[in-house]
Amino acid sequence: MADLRGRHFLKLLDFTPEEIRYLIDLSKALKDKKKRHEEHAYLKGKNIVLLFEKTSTRTRCSFEVAGMDLGMGVTYLGPGSSQMGRKESIADTARVLGRMYDGIEYRGFDQSLVETLAEYAGVPVWNGLTDQFHPTQMIADLLTIEEKKGKLKGIRFTYFGDARNNMGNSLMIACAKMGLHFTACAPAELFPAEELVRKAKEIAKESGGSVTLTEDITEGAKDADVLYTDIWVSMGEPAEAWEKRISLLQPYRVDEKKMALAKPDAIFMHCLPSFHDTNTVIGKEIADRYGIEEMEVSNDVFEGPQSVVFDEAENRMHTIKAVMYATLRGEEKDLV
Ligand code: CP
Ligand code: NVA
Repeated sequence: MADLRGRHFLKLLDFTPEEIRYLIDLSKALKDKKKRHEEHAYLKGKNIVLLFEKTSTRTRCSFEVAGMDLGMGVTYLGPGSSQMGRKESIADTARVLGRMYDGIEYRGFDQSLVETLAEYAGVPVWNGLTDQFHPTQMIADLLTIEEKKGKLKGIRFTYFGDARNNMGNSLMIACAKMGLHFTACAPAELFPAEELVRKAKEIAKESGGSVTLTEDITEGAKDADVLYTDIWVSMGEPAEAWEKRISLLQPYRVDEKKMALAKPDAIFMHCLPSFHDTNTVIGKEIADRYGIEEMEVSNDVFEGPQSVVFDEAENRMHTIKAVMYATLRGEEKDLV
């Protein structure tokens, strides 16, 4: 079994398929305990801090609930609520927090920030999303696919949308590591960076998976087991990005037509939050300005029987718990 004690969790590129497998299995064991209402406060006496430079619902709540279930004290520092950035460097913040806490979660902008935090903290640092990667989301997504499809290897996975954002990058690497057939279906200017694609292809060779980039919607959707999408403009991007992104990505919206091209038992996934109707401030503004009432996914697909998005969201908590347990646990016998 893998030993991740003391490790950081910054991006899946740093982990072997065996280590990722261990985190998925550990998540299952912890989910089982939670469902059976079995106490699992194995990290009593430890404390963690959650540093968010961007907003969050799922990631923050998952770290908080998972931390409390494991018996830990949890501090939340929201965007702009600490000295970090404006008055104190990341390196100094890391050295201060590392003296007080046993683990640090960080959500922010460039990946280099979380890497610097990890370099100086002296305790495990977990990446809760950067502009380039969203690794805790990956363990939840892999667990969800395995629960729904019974396996990971050989699964045909297609990502529609902005394939060079944190989700596109991360899903390509996660699929390549675990032997899935990954397709990014997007306009060429939104394909992941060449260097990362090259790495992903190399990794996929080892795992028996594959990596395909296509602009062709039929090719992307046909016979897929999983159709995945994410919002068209990510946190931190300027509002002006919407206009061009909408015109580029409208044809790539996951709708009934694409679902019909996929396998009959295909599932729809989304990391959330999602713009599938006008019941949000931004959704309403976009509808008023551009005349579209749904964006990356149609409301019918989002609400339809093939959508597993809320199971996926729940799995964020179980899998983040596994990441914290694996990196913070002591010498005792492991759970899997
Ligand atoms: N999927 C995800 O990371 O959601 P939050 O932004 O709500 O944390
Ligand atoms: N690409 C999205 C993911 C949100 C979980 C963003 O960065 O805003």
